[in-house]
Amino acid sequence: MSEGRLTYGDYLAVPQLLALQHPLSEPPVHGEMLFIVVQQAQELWFKQLLHELHLIVRRLTSGALEEAAHVLDRVNRILGMLAEGVEILEALPPSEFQQFRPLLETASGFESQQFRELEVASGLEDRDYLRMAGRIADVPAIRRRWPVTLRDAFLSRVRAVAPDPVTALVEIYAHPSSYPDLYRLCESVSDYELRFRQWRFHHAQLVMRVIGDRSPGTTGTPGSAYLDRTLQYRFFPELWEARNKLVSAAESAHGG
Ligand code: HEM
Repeated sequence: MSEGRLTYGDYLAVPQLLALQHPLSEPPVHGEMLFIVVQQAQELWFKQLLHELHLIVRRLTSGALEEAAHVLDRVNRILGMLAEGVEILEALPPSEFQQFRPLLETASGFESQQFRELEVASGLEDRDYLRMAGRIADVPAIRRRWPVTLRDAFLSRVRAVAPDPVTALVEIYAHPSSYPDLYRLCESVSDYELRFRQWRFHHAQLVMRVIGDRSPGTTGTPGSAYLDRTLQYRFFPELWEARNKLVSAAESAHGG
C-alpha cells in the first residue's frame, strides 16, 4: 500500500510475483528465464482451472446445466491458450536448453501437483496412471478434495436419460433437439477432453523438438515414448464410445 491507497502492484502482489524467478545457470543462459516464466504461467493457469472445475462440479450437482456448460466454455478457452502457450518454448534452441538442463537434476513437470490434481479431478481412472501418479502425488488426499469429480458430476446428469451412460449418450446424440441442455453440456465436455489432449499433444511435440524422440526425461521416463502413451488417456470414454455406436448404427442402417 502507498499512502493508504491500494495500488495495482499491491492488489496483484506484482513485486512478489516478479521476485519468484530464480534461474540456476551461472553464467546466465538467456533462455532459462523463458523456461521458468512459461512454466510458472502455466501453473498459475492450472490453479485457475482447478478453481473453475470446483464451480462446474457444484453447478452440475445442483442441476444448473447451462451455467455449468458456460463455465466449461471458459475453461476450454484457457486450455486452448495453454496448449499454444507451451509452443512458445519451441523457440528455445535445443543447444541452449542443454546448457542448463543438467541443473534441473531430476526435476520435471512430471512432478506438477496441480497437473495431477487436474487429471484426478477430471476423473481419470486409468489403473496404470493412478499407480504412476501415486508415486509423485498424494492421490487419496486429492480424492478427498474431489469427492465428486467432473466425470462423476457429468455422468450423473447423463444417467437421467438412461442408467447406462453410453446408451444415454447415444440417445442424446441421436436426438439433440429433445435434450438441448444435455446436448450442449456433452459438447462442452467433449471439447474439454479434446483440449486437454491438445495440451498433451503440444507438450509432446515441444519435447520432441527440444530433446528429440528417444531421450529420457529428467525424471527417468522414456521421454517422448512416455508422453505419446499419455495421449491414450480418456476422462470420458463413454462420449467417444457413444459416437462409435452412432456410426455403427448408421452403417447398419445403410447396409454398410
Ligand atoms: C523445453 C521444454 C520442456 C521439456 C524438454 C519437457 C520435457 C518433459 C519430459 C521429458 C516429460 C516426461 C517426464 C520426465 O521428465 O521424465 C515431461 C512431463 C511433463 N511436463 Fe514437460 N517439458 C518441457 C516444458 C514443459 C512446460 C512448459 C510445462 C508446463 C507446465 C510442462 C509440464 C509437464 C507436465 C505436466 C508433465 C507430466 C505429463 C504427464 O505425465 O502426462 N513441461 N516434460
